[in-house]
Amino acid sequence: MRNAFGWLLGVVGLLSLPFFLLAGDHGFGVSAGARSAVVARLRSEWPEPISPLSPAPGARAELVALGARLFSDRRLSAGASLSCASCHRLEAGGGDGRRRGVGINGEELLFNVPSIFNAWKNYRYNWRGNFATLEDQNEAILLDPHVMGSSWPSILSALGRDLDYAAGFRELFGEAPDRNGVLAALGAFQRSLTTQDGRFDRYLRGETGAITPEEEEGYALFRSYGCVSCHQGENVGGNLMQRFPLFPPGLAPTEGKPSRAARTADLGRFTVTGRSEDRQLFRVPSLRNVALTAPYFHDGRAATLPEAVGEMAASQLGRPIPDSDVQLIVKFLTTLSGAPPGRPPANQIP
Ligand code: HEC
Ligand code: HEC
Repeated sequence: MRNAFGWLLGVVGLLSLPFFLLAGDHGFGVSAGARSAVVARLRSEWPEPISPLSPAPGARAELVALGARLFSDRRLSAGASLSCASCHRLEAGGGDGRRRGVGINGEELLFNVPSIFNAWKNYRYNWRGNFATLEDQNEAILLDPHVMGSSWPSILSALGRDLDYAAGFRELFGEAPDRNGVLAALGAFQRSLTTQDGRFDRYLRGETGAITPEEEEGYALFRSYGCVSCHQGENVGGNLMQRFPLFPPGLAPTEGKPSRAARTADLGRFTVTGRSEDRQLFRVPSLRNVALTAPYFHDGRAATLPEAVGEMAASQLGRPIPDSDVQLIVKFLTTLSGAPPGRPPANQIP
């Protein structure tokens, strides 16, 4: 249902993209009065393209706690070198602050580490949308020789030797640690990482003072420029595949002389399906907590959020937008930060 709704919003949004591009009044002109009139019009005329995050279906607290422990346990990787939390840092925005992830053996991966917060709500996983379920994605990353390089026999024997794990699994599943139990616990923990009470969601639920007038103006710009045609729904993204860059010349794929790895990553979903129509197709990322997850894009090419917004305007809307509007949109994007229930607010990695 959620996915069907997301698709519908996406289709409606994309059909209206030309309208956004042609309509004259998205740059908010000059006067503050005109600006607030536009904000008021947008509020009353448009169906709300973003909805508040709904919490995960309830799971036993013991299952979530087991998942939390596994998520931070290095024994899930070859040589006990990395845990999920080494790359998806829970005290930060759920990413690692690097351009691209660094797997076991210290090898740089092809892709930037996406945030783990709200990730379960995406309709497909990874930048190329190459997994349909969280469990399939998680298993692949555990076994990927470049990322965690592990195997089920080694994971399960390490967990089986630990008396606490053995007791925990027996209590929850009535048996020794096994693949399904590990994936169920990891999944329950990831679903608990829903940042459902951020300021923007409180605003959407009717608390108009939860965001400042400038942030609200930024939101109106985000809508009127057409950013919402791709970034919408509960996760403000995560429910569509789109070409990047959409508008040549836009941003040339990876500046300078790209390495072979970078050129491969820039081909997007094509490297999964081999179909030419999938060239440079990426899953639109969620913008939840985006102010905490620099650097940006599949290869981390944009160091700051204003830079990323400016590049989006050029490559996805086909036009530059004034710096003052970029600043307001960035202000709006900061309202999308939030903490999962019971966790301290995340910080940007210094
Ligand atoms: C070495 C760093 C690293 C480690 C360790 C790691 N990940 Fe990731 N994770 C990544 C990268 C990079 C991606 C993006 C991969 C891609 O797009 O192909 C990713 C993607 C994901 C996604 C998809 C997010 C989305 O928005 O689609 C999930 C979910 C995820 N990881 C969960 C986990 C779990 C659970 C673990 C531990 C079992 C883990 N990761 C360990 C680097 C890491
Ligand atoms: C036509 C679809 C489309 C439109 C319109 C669009 N985006 Fe995006 N956006 C994407 C895609 C696809 C990506 C991922 C690009 C990549 O693969 O690196 C993305 C990535 C981003 C990112 C980086 C997220 C991250 O975690 O790295 C930000 C920030 C962003 N968009 C903001 C915006 C803003 C602001 C606008 C309006 C000015 C906008 N987008 C318009 C499709 C779109």
